[in-house]
Amino acid sequence: MYKVVVVCIKGGVGKTLTVLSLAAEFGILSKGRLKGLLVDCDPTCNSSNPTIGAKDTDATIYDVYKNPDLDIREAIYPADQDQYPGLYVLAGDSRMSEVDELLARRAIKETVLHRALKAVEHEFDYAIIDTPASKTTMLKNAVCASDAYIVPIEHDIQAIDGYLFVQNLIDELSDVWVELRPKPKNLGVFFTKVEPKGNAIQRIEEMAKKEVKEKLLPIKIPKSIHAKEARIDGLSLQHDRVHPISVAYSALAQYLLKTFESNDRGGEKWKKLQRETGLQQKERKKEKQMRL
Ligand SMILES: Nc1ncnc2c1ncn2[C@@H]1O[C@H](COP(=O)(O)OP(=O)(O)O)[C@@H](O)[C@H]1O
Ligand SMILES: [Mg+2]
Repeated sequence: MYKVVVVCIKGGVGKTLTVLSLAAEFGILSKGRLKGLLVDCDPTCNSSNPTIGAKDTDATIYDVYKNPDLDIREAIYPADQDQYPGLYVLAGDSRMSEVDELLARRAIKETVLHRALKAVEHEFDYAIIDTPASKTTMLKNAVCASDAYIVPIEHDIQAIDGYLFVQNLIDELSDVWVELRPKPKNLGVFFTKVEPKGNAIQRIEEMAKKEVKEKLLPIKIPKSIHAKEARIDGLSLQHDRVHPISVAYSALAQYLLKTFESNDRGGEKWKKLQRETGLQQKERKKEKQMRL
C-alpha cells in the first residue's frame, strides 16, 4: 500500500476536493482494479461524507486512536462504488478534534495511525489521506503514516506559506524519520482555483517558482463553479470526463500513478494501468471532439 497525504496548513485550498477527485480518478482509470483506502483525518469529515456507500461500521477512526488493540478493519467500509470504484473508507469521526487530548498522556503520539495502517498494508494498493488545516497531533499522524505528500496551494500571494509550513513540520518530526521510517517523499506542489491568465497571476507563479523550484508541478486546477455544483448533486467531479477541472485532476492522478509505478509497489499492476490510461486518453479526446 502506497500512502499519499494531501496536506497544506491553509483551509479552503482544495485538499478535500483533491482527495475525492484523485480517489474517483484512480478508480475510473483502473476500472476499479486498484483497491484504495481513503483516510479522513479531518474532524469535519468532508471527504468521508460524500463517499458514503454501505456504511455499517462498528468503529471509526476515533476508535482506532482510542484503542490500539482494535482491528482497523472494523472501521473500514466500501464507498459508493459507482462514483468511487475500488475505494474503501476509514470512517471519519467528528470526535477527531479530541484526539490531542486523548493522546496527551501517551508516550508515542505521532505514529498511532502509521502502526494501525500496517495491519492492512497488503490489502490495499494505495491510501489517500485528507488532513485538517491546523497543526494537531492528528495532522502529525497523517504525515508520519505517509510514504509521500502532495501540497495544493491556492493561487494567491500568500500561497507559498502553506508549503513552507509543511517543510517545517517534516523537519520538526526528524526523530520519527530517524527511528521509524524514511521521511515522506515530496511529490510536489500544485496550484488550485486558478483563474484565467492575467499579469498578477503570472507574477504569483514566478514568486512561487523561486521558492519551490522544480517541485512546482505543471498541473493547474482551474477555478470552477462545477466544484460546488458537483458536490450539491452528490457526484464526484470525475463523473464528467471532459470538463477542464476533471481533466486537470486526471492529469494529477496520472502523475501520481507514475510515481507509484517508479516505487514499484505494485510492479506489473501499475504498468498495465499506464497502458489502459493511454487508451482512455484517446477515448476522451474523441468524446471532446464529438461535443464540439
Ligand atoms: N478548483 C476549484 N474551483 C472552485 N471551487 C473550489 C475549487 N476547489 C475547491 N473549491 C471549493 O472551495 C471550498 C473549499 O474546498 P475544500 O476542498 O473543502 O478545501 P480544504 O479541504 O483545503 O479546506 C469548497 O466549497 C470547494 O467546493
Ligand atoms: Mg478539507
